[in-house]
Amino acid sequence: MFPVWFLVLEIWSFKFHLVLPPQSFSHQLSPRCRSPVSTDSLNSELRDELRRLSEQGLLRSRREVIPLPGGQCRLNGQTLWNFASNDYLGLADDPRLKQAAIDAIQVSGIGARASPLVTGRTDWHARLESAISRFKQTESAILFPTGFAANLGTIGALAGPDDIVICDRLNHASLIDGIRQTRARLRVIPHGDVTACRQQLQQATGTRRRLIVTDSVFSMDGDHAPLRELHDCAEEFDAILIVDDAHATGVFGDRGTGLLEVAGISASQRVISIGTLSKAIGLQGGFVAGSSVLINWLWNSARTQVYSTALSIPVCAAAVTAFELITAEPERRHWLRETSSQVIAGLRQSGWHVPDPARGPILPVLVGDAALTMQLASALEERGILVAAIRPPTVPAGTARLRVSLCVSHGQEGIAALLDAFQAVRATQQ
Ligand SMILES: Cc1ncc(COP(=O)(O)O)c(C=O)c1O
Repeated sequence: MFPVWFLVLEIWSFKFHLVLPPQSFSHQLSPRCRSPVSTDSLNSELRDELRRLSEQGLLRSRREVIPLPGGQCRLNGQTLWNFASNDYLGLADDPRLKQAAIDAIQVSGIGARASPLVTGRTDWHARLESAISRFKQTESAILFPTGFAANLGTIGALAGPDDIVICDRLNHASLIDGIRQTRARLRVIPHGDVTACRQQLQQATGTRRRLIVTDSVFSMDGDHAPLRELHDCAEEFDAILIVDDAHATGVFGDRGTGLLEVAGISASQRVISIGTLSKAIGLQGGFVAGSSVLINWLWNSARTQVYSTALSIPVCAAAVTAFELITAEPERRHWLRETSSQVIAGLRQSGWHVPDPARGPILPVLVGDAALTMQLASALEERGILVAAIRPPTVPAGTARLRVSLCVSHGQEGIAALLDAFQAVRATQQ
């Protein structure tokens, strides 16, 4: 525990030491809006911007989804197969996770009541940290409020203006925002391009640290980073490899621990493994697994962890059970991998473009045009299938797509419904 003066100093520096606000992959206001704007005119300018997005087919709207068991949901009074969730292993609704959460609530209540370094880190949190480090086979682990916060906080704690960070072009927004806040030299490389990574490191002279930052499974394409080659590159240039294993944890590897396991790389001084509880674990929260020294450093410097309330107690209890189930029930991830090949083949057979590198539960169906993507998503919805329509700026212009996410709970009945609906919608396109 830190002395009180440390916390006072940190809160003071948090208030007065300005860091660059993280940028996100959000829409940029048009140049007209960058000049000073009175509050009176703000609403009318925002209305104009929203109209512009709407004209481009890029306006986002919110809806109310009611989750149902068995990989389904209810939306606007209709029951749909939900192919737009990240609950790959079907754990969000697992009775054993629910029971673990209820039991924990009976004992300790719901909220953590404080940030972790004050009084928010309970015995439930300590148990989850141990479960994660056992699962990831690391010395230690630390929790964050979300996966986004884990990426932001970890990169912020490790990089600064004297460093260079190599970043894959398709990395998740949280990694990009994490790098931008550090004011490190950001070098964006083409997707999966190890040669470009090597070139950037060769040219990086006079830097303190060199970081290579990558998703393991890319969230909009479902393809995999060349982790082995990036690791070799990190060794050659004495760089640190930061891997966001968000979509791979629980899904890939013999033990289900993620793509670092598949690449035969263990988390070490050179490799930092970041994860989230919000995908295959079926819950919410982020984590970093690594050496004791790294984790102690993050306890001392990761602002998104230090200055945010700890994870809620039922989430911690349910997550411990989830990691036990992932170890005990490998058939869940086996089903995902086999079914993924079956779905790719089925979609291609009915004429859809599923790019080659896709494998695992995230399957992009490339459309190109944003407005057409929205129409296709509606047509699928009319046939009982909910998929995510992904448009710029989340993906590059001209690469709008339907993203199909598989979940064990769909079973063969859901998969048959998916393939039938895609085939029927395709027929209306020709
Ligand atoms: C690759 C990747 N990293 C991090 C995150 C953020 O995780 P969380 O939803 O737990 O904040 C996401 C989620 O969208 C993601 O896809």
